[in-house]
Amino acid sequence: MNQTIKFWAVVPAAGVGKRMNADRPKQYLELAGLTVIEHTLSRLLQANVFSAVAVAISAEDPYWTELDIGKHELIITAPGGKERADSVLSGLKAIREQAKDDDWVLVHDAARPCLTTGDIRLLIDTLVNDEVGGILALSSHDTLKNVQDKYILGTLDRRTIWRALTPQMFRYGLLKSALEEAEGNPAITDEASALELMGLKPKIVEGRPDNIKITQPEDLALAQFYMEQQ
Ligand code: C5P
Repeated sequence: MNQTIKFWAVVPAAGVGKRMNADRPKQYLELAGLTVIEHTLSRLLQANVFSAVAVAISAEDPYWTELDIGKHELIITAPGGKERADSVLSGLKAIREQAKDDDWVLVHDAARPCLTTGDIRLLIDTLVNDEVGGILALSSHDTLKNVQDKYILGTLDRRTIWRALTPQMFRYGLLKSALEEAEGNPAITDEASALELMGLKPKIVEGRPDNIKITQPEDLALAQFYMEQQ
């Protein structure tokens, strides 16, 4: 590995998580004695590879400053944005003085607290010499349908369909320009899609199925189960 290349993590954590129907954003719900975001950030820090972790937090968020982990020397707080991509761009800007264009950035959802060091290392080891970068993903076990107004229009070829997870790993300079170019485009729901728009082909690295995103109330119990199993 090239010793001069650094690794940075960017964590978008400025969403409200409406589908949880909770009294606070999902990253602040309790999971095995800590908040979801504390688990997520601890796991990134434990991997021992990042020069810093930039966390994008909403201006209206009263919970973040209550957490000790926000004061960790490797954690940098950045302002959250309107959409996820805006929050990621804000995280990238927060490290622009320190990060070089060729450095790698791993973007990871605050709402994925079950990430393992093994998956972080697998992603890095697979992509470190890649030109473009890539993402953790899962193949689909179910048959997938194209549906409109609850009627099936067709069946997708599931051999070519993957579910995008995070972390998503790209070079600092390339990711920043891809997100800047795509600003305001609602189709950009992850980092890879911004690079795809530039005509690039990010790579797929098969991740662990327990790297779930907390989205609905029952996901908290599932995440706790996975953590116990890990
Ligand atoms: O809502 P969803 O689960 O897709 O959000 C994925 C991640 O993006 C979450 O960690 C959420 O906090 C973050 N996000 C953000 N800024 C937004 C919207 C979502 O940082 N404006």
